[in-house]
Amino acid sequence: MKTGDLSADPIVGLSRNSYMSPAQFQHELLAIHHVSWLYGCHASEVGLPGEFVTRQVGRDDSIIIVRGEDGQVRAFANLCRHRGSRLCHEDHGHVRRLVCPYHQWRYATDGNLLSANRMRDGIDLNFADHGLVAIAAETWGGHVFICLSDPQAPLAPLLSAAAVGLSDYSPEATKVAARRCYPIAANWKLVMENFWECYHCAARHPEFSAIADVGGLEDTDFGTVTEPGAALSPVIGGALPLKPGFTSLTLDGRPACRRRFGRFQNEIAVSDPVQTTGFILRHSTAVTYFPDHGIVLDFQPRGVDQTLLVARWLVPADAVEGQDYVTENLVALWDITNIQDGVLAEGNAAGVRSSFYKPGPISRAHEPGIHEFHRFCAAALARTPALASSGSALSS
Ligand code: FES
Ligand SMILES: [Fe+2]
Repeated sequence: MKTGDLSADPIVGLSRNSYMSPAQFQHELLAIHHVSWLYGCHASEVGLPGEFVTRQVGRDDSIIIVRGEDGQVRAFANLCRHRGSRLCHEDHGHVRRLVCPYHQWRYATDGNLLSANRMRDGIDLNFADHGLVAIAAETWGGHVFICLSDPQAPLAPLLSAAAVGLSDYSPEATKVAARRCYPIAANWKLVMENFWECYHCAARHPEFSAIADVGGLEDTDFGTVTEPGAALSPVIGGALPLKPGFTSLTLDGRPACRRRFGRFQNEIAVSDPVQTTGFILRHSTAVTYFPDHGIVLDFQPRGVDQTLLVARWLVPADAVEGQDYVTENLVALWDITNIQDGVLAEGNAAGVRSSFYKPGPISRAHEPGIHEFHRFCAAALARTPALASSGSALSS
């Protein structure tokens, strides 16, 4: 069903409390982020055995994603099994062993405890019982995804169905050309609401709107509204159509990288119908590809009023900085857009904090994604009871 076919029920925004309550935030972390597949990292960031990245979830959880000697990418809770010290404080690195900085317990990159500094296996403790806490990890299309609880469903089939034509882009043969972080002083739901509508685009994103087909966006999965009561898929398509005449989502609408992904080795035809594809993980990550580069936007709730947006720009694995692309050109449009969006979300947060705030109407025509987002959150919260002390509810 498309925009405009919603039921006649009025749609209004969320309460002030739902954006400001620490208990509500904790409930959302458990009910949504701890049970959903999340973006871990790009597979090329852990390309070699021993390469790792750490990825924070919420305020308190940190996950290590590391490639083992056997080539497999695994994820572990970033804490030692002795007395719980954080293992890795760096956001990325390369190790032969994971060594706890406190009392030097040593773990293999497959999570097994190897030694425990003067404590003996089978006498003081059983090493086999004290390996790192494993977290579900799945690698697909050159990306590593993690899930902090038992995954409700494998991710690959959902991604394959959503990212139509992605194999044309040879996504495994890509690398991260740039990674930038954007701290936003706003509740994560305000950040996602801003992501889910382009009602603000024409006025507030002149650079983006000059190249992207903002009107056409509503005809993609991005603007699709499901039947009331229907289950919402955790993954949808993430194509980002361009205005006629443009071949990439850059400041001038032209490729920022001379190398091309997959089958786009030759000059890109303006009439080519498959110029963009991607997927969106509800409600944390958007991945979009153009023939010369890709963009990953990973929205991470960090506190009730703090969100971190981590953006990665992808290029073909054999592209060379300075020769095939200039990083500042590559990142320019999304860097501007991310900063603009951060300002909008923080301005929204400032207004919502006011004691005069009241939820307002959400447009069926121009903000259907917000409605879907709220519905997804409300269903997730209803499935997962709040902690006894939180008493939270996603109320309108
Ligand atoms: S807490 Fe890690 S070795 Fe003691
Ligand atoms: Fe925006």
